[in-house]
Amino acid sequence: MLIIDNLSKSFIHTSTNESMQILKDINFTAEEGQFVCIVGPSGCGKTTLLRMIAGLERQDSGHIYLNDKEILSPVTDIGFIFQETTLLPWRTVLRNVEFGLEIGNVPKKQRRQRALEFVELVELKGFEDYYPKQISGGMKRKAALAMSLVVDPKILLMDEPFVALDCQSRSQLQEALLNIWAKTKKTVIFVTHNVEEAVFLADEIICLSTRPAEIYRIMKVDMPRPRDRTSPELNKIRKEILNFIKTRSHWSMPLIRMM
Ligand SMILES: Nc1ncnc2c1ncn2[C@@H]1O[C@H](COP(=O)(O)OP(=O)(O)OP(=O)(O)O)[C@@H](O)[C@H]1O
Ligand SMILES: [Mg+2]
Repeated sequence: MLIIDNLSKSFIHTSTNESMQILKDINFTAEEGQFVCIVGPSGCGKTTLLRMIAGLERQDSGHIYLNDKEILSPVTDIGFIFQETTLLPWRTVLRNVEFGLEIGNVPKKQRRQRALEFVELVELKGFEDYYPKQISGGMKRKAALAMSLVVDPKILLMDEPFVALDCQSRSQLQEALLNIWAKTKKTVIFVTHNVEEAVFLADEIICLSTRPAEIYRIMKVDMPRPRDRTSPELNKIRKEILNFIKTRSHWSMPLIRMM
């Protein structure tokens, strides 16, 4: 279980040298195996929040606990899929997927077998020997997903992993991700700008305000999967979130737990 306890963070603005608050009193929990989406406007601090969960950035105040252990330094058993794809261009798909196991000194035969299983899980079988420049953007995201999952992380942090893909590839990857999530039962923290994506994927949606980002709403999406993207229920939740985003002047309202 992930606990974010009263987290705040500022950065020193590089040109004015003044402190700029990014995140303010962020509180939420993600149960084991839960799919949590974080939505919020550009620049509000979503990537910073993920980096803090991964122990790559230190908060000014507050605490983060992963399975009862406080995060105080970079966490190795977290899967992090960044906004930009992070495949190693000189390695094939299979050898990219194997990379984390190599770092972990897993013997060659075992790591090859495990990497092949994950290549298959993300539906890239047949492309093991391709280099990143020879596969499409969507395939790169799948390879990055396999690369993260192969080391059996405690939690998967995904930072707008499907941005800049066409609608169809994006929908396919969302569905593939949900299938993989159902099989691996990982806790997922998924950042997106896209409210439709959040409503389709999440068990719970955390809505952040503009900077300094505060949680203005946590919405539960209690709907069975596979979800129908066009269903009135999903549309209702989507509209509610969008309406909140429009009426940002009411950001200061207290946290409301919905549904
Ligand atoms: N290392 C840093 N030093 C100074 N300022 C930083 C640093 N990292 C992030 N920031 C600032 O913190 C703010 C939040 O950045 P962050 O990348 O977390 O936003 P975001 O919500 O992920 O945005 P986007 O949706 O565009 O990806 C920005 O104003 C950014 O300039
Ligand atoms: Mg970001």
